[in-house]
Amino acid sequence: MIDTTQRIEPARLEALPEKVTDLVAELASSAANLGNRLHPLTAANLADVVRIMNSYYSNLIEGNNTRPRDIERALAGDLEADPARRNLQIEAASHVRVQAAIDQLARQGALPEPASVDFIRWLHREFYRDADPSMLVVTGAGRDFNMVPGEWRSRPEHDVAVGRHIPPASPRVDEFMRYLADRYQFNTMGMAGKVVCMAISHHRFNFIHPFPDGNGRVSRLMSHAMAWHAGIAAGGLWSISRGLARGLASRGEYNQMMDLADSVRESDLDGRGNLSQKALIAFISWFLEVALDQVRFMSGLFELEALSRRLRALARELLLPAEAEFLLDTVMQRGEIDRGEVPRVTGLPERSARRVLNALVQKGLLASTTPKGAVSLRFPASSLEILFPRLFPQI
Ligand SMILES: Nc1ncnc2c1ncn2[C@@H]1O[C@H](COP(=O)(O)OP(=O)(O)OP(=O)(O)O)[C@@H](O)[C@H]1O
Ligand SMILES: [Mg+2]
Repeated sequence: MIDTTQRIEPARLEALPEKVTDLVAELASSAANLGNRLHPLTAANLADVVRIMNSYYSNLIEGNNTRPRDIERALAGDLEADPARRNLQIEAASHVRVQAAIDQLARQGALPEPASVDFIRWLHREFYRDADPSMLVVTGAGRDFNMVPGEWRSRPEHDVAVGRHIPPASPRVDEFMRYLADRYQFNTMGMAGKVVCMAISHHRFNFIHPFPDGNGRVSRLMSHAMAWHAGIAAGGLWSISRGLARGLASRGEYNQMMDLADSVRESDLDGRGNLSQKALIAFISWFLEVALDQVRFMSGLFELEALSRRLRALARELLLPAEAEFLLDTVMQRGEIDRGEVPRVTGLPERSARRVLNALVQKGLLASTTPKGAVSLRFPASSLEILFPRLFPQI
């Protein structure tokens, strides 16, 4: 096949197989239920945890195992002295920062077309905004150059291989990415089309591999933005990377399925494009099953009664008094409470009530945006193992 944009066809499916339609429907209804009983403020603070989780797994796929504690520190500007570990921390914090920007744009209804040239280049530029120059040096397989954030591969020395796959030659990337933007215009699609295109475009983007490095992470952020567009983001309460990193049954599935989707058409019964339609349908089904699995997992973690139980368990673990348990539970349900209300809510005299409140603030479980403002829940890294079992791998 010559190196024309037809290489990424089929980029859409003309008819959706029943299995795919069913998955879309299940995903839509599960996502609509995820966190729907939570107070919006509690949900918004849980989305902070989801962004750290997504960053953790998205970077883990690249081999960067920066733990939630170190991501949390990096977000607070506390970086390691060791340059290698520091750079990994910067990458992890950047992933959180870009996802927060996506979530905010989405909430404002201002999220751009997710496959557009400008948006994708912006994702890459933003992801590398805080990068140390050493993180932009691309070496190996005869390559040695400085990557410019937000710029496509363009010169022959930028050429890449991904596993067995040889992406388009660098001088052609711009044309391929314009074609990709044209094929995935979300504002022209219905809900099912958007969900299916979230899956297909994840592969087609990586098939083009438009940047010298950072494609995987940018594509996972693009998919997150597409989930918002499709109306299945559940306010940012789930994200794709944990599922991609873990697979349905084993860790290697992501690369295997990407490799499968690179397959060329087998026969006249395998669609009409350059790539296999059968492999594409297998990829879409896998991707949507992974998404559904994540939505269900997060629904279990964020279920109101279960969350309340684990908050209480955490307070006991931290040897806090029973009133602290009750206070956490109340804040979870009401989203926030004024500091002045704590005595009434806990039934404690003012000084004791203040002591309980201060203990929770000191543990990082309650916080306010202004010093005297109303407090709402926070989920510090130190609390994650008890509050959200299995969200991160045990070490
Ligand atoms: N056979 C394949 N065909 C197309 N894309 C693939 C294939 N195998 C893996 N990929 C994609 O390529 C990404 C790796 O590319 P690259 O190193 O540029 O991105 P990264 O963000 O630096 O790394 P990573 O994706 O591992 O975090 C993988 O994450 C995956 O999304
Ligand atoms: Mg890489």
